[in-house]
Amino acid sequence: MSKLIFEKSVAGSTSFRLPPSEVPEGLALPASMLCTEGPALPEISEVETVRHFVELSKKAYGVDTGFYPLGSCTMKYNPKINEWAARLPGLASIHPLQPVDTVQGALEIMHHLERILCEVTGMDQFSLQPAAGAHGELAGILMMKAYFAKHGETQRTVMLVPDSAHGTNPATANMAGYKVVQIKSDARGRVDVPSLRAAMNEQVAGIMLTNPNTLGLFEDEVAEIAHIVHSGGGLLYYDGANANGMVGVARPGDMGFDVAHLNLHKTFGTPHGGGGPGSGPVGVKARLAEFLPVPIVRQGSDGYYLECNRPHSIGQMLAFYGNFGVLVRAYAYALALGGPGLREAGENAVLNANYLRHKLRGVYDIPFDTLCKHEFVATPGKLKSECGVSTIDIAKRLLDYGYHPPTVYFPLIVPEAMLIEPTETETKERLDVFVEVMVIIAKEARENAEMLKKAPSLTPVRRVDEVGAARKPILRYKAEGL
Ligand SMILES: Cc1ncc(COP(=O)(O)O)c(C=O)c1O
Repeated sequence: MSKLIFEKSVAGSTSFRLPPSEVPEGLALPASMLCTEGPALPEISEVETVRHFVELSKKAYGVDTGFYPLGSCTMKYNPKINEWAARLPGLASIHPLQPVDTVQGALEIMHHLERILCEVTGMDQFSLQPAAGAHGELAGILMMKAYFAKHGETQRTVMLVPDSAHGTNPATANMAGYKVVQIKSDARGRVDVPSLRAAMNEQVAGIMLTNPNTLGLFEDEVAEIAHIVHSGGGLLYYDGANANGMVGVARPGDMGFDVAHLNLHKTFGTPHGGGGPGSGPVGVKARLAEFLPVPIVRQGSDGYYLECNRPHSIGQMLAFYGNFGVLVRAYAYALALGGPGLREAGENAVLNANYLRHKLRGVYDIPFDTLCKHEFVATPGKLKSECGVSTIDIAKRLLDYGYHPPTVYFPLIVPEAMLIEPTETETKERLDVFVEVMVIIAKEARENAEMLKKAPSLTPVRRVDEVGAARKPILRYKAEGL
């Protein structure tokens, strides 16, 4: 285990020297308010500081260091041209409170990106403000709520959510004040349409649907689903977290969705926001546009401007206009690939997922072994029933081989799920090596299950007690001698 930088501290070491202060001491503040001691910072030389952080950085795993098949979370490669664009001084150094005539270029980027997102999704207008997918969901559901309030349909208090949905969907509906009713999946892993029909009534505000769903399957009855919900007076929300699997091929706006968010980190190659400093723009059909968050970037005869006076808007979802740096990266990605390139990326994501599904068939169980989109579910199958090896053991053993595991135990409707999403940029060679490792682990499960249950054995931190970590977290570390 590495030591903390505080534990490496040696009294008297330093990596900087400050010039004498030019501010007279104790001038403005009364003595009672002044610190009597300096802050407890580590005392360490420059070279040891550099070594400490470089060593830590080498332990971090990311998509730039290796394969990251994290299904549903989509850890896709972030092309470096995006970083170049975001660091251009004219973009990186501007301030959101600058007068609009000094930031016309930034507004133009936002306006163009908004148009691109409309084109990709078939929506009429977008807000770039939400900071994550879940945040986009909340903005979208609040707009649906505002729509029903304006039309005097406040009795619509129920949101339908399929049982395969990501946890953020029911959480969002709940936060927006809706009662969540779950719709079960059918034997094909899609929304069970008869159950949906039975659940639809005048209390239902709508449905939140992910397509392709979290099993990586296209909801091929989406037209019928849209018909059922619309004819019952409800609206359709599109969780676009999985749009990478169909970008350039099919559009939620054409499927009947009224509101849609996109996770720019999943479809437009921006850094993953970790639920916060990312971007989850939300788009709507024209009849909901008046409820979009403010401000909206508009193009007038004198250039771009920010429209703030929108009486029916749900209000502001984030400071200023969203995470501008992320928007620039998404714009760079879209321009670098172009329309055909975006489609090709989606096609390659689907091809890679199907390649892996095919190669792992017979080694692991594939519960829905049909053509998938960008991801698919595998389970240990007989490795569990015959050797007692669980998904968590396989995931931990992958760490020993230098791979980030897939998403595990999600979606909840498949016991022991491993949700595998290779993404479009992985080469066949890389996928083949991953398959080899998965085959070796399956062999190990049969020959030495006990070893797998103790995995990982080669990582700096071994198997952690995950339940204990969640239930009895140790939130403070007390280093020896401090
Ligand atoms: C299907 C689905 N919906 C919503 C989200 C939430 O997105 P975010 O993590 O950007 O909040 C995710 C995240 O992984 C997801 O997979």
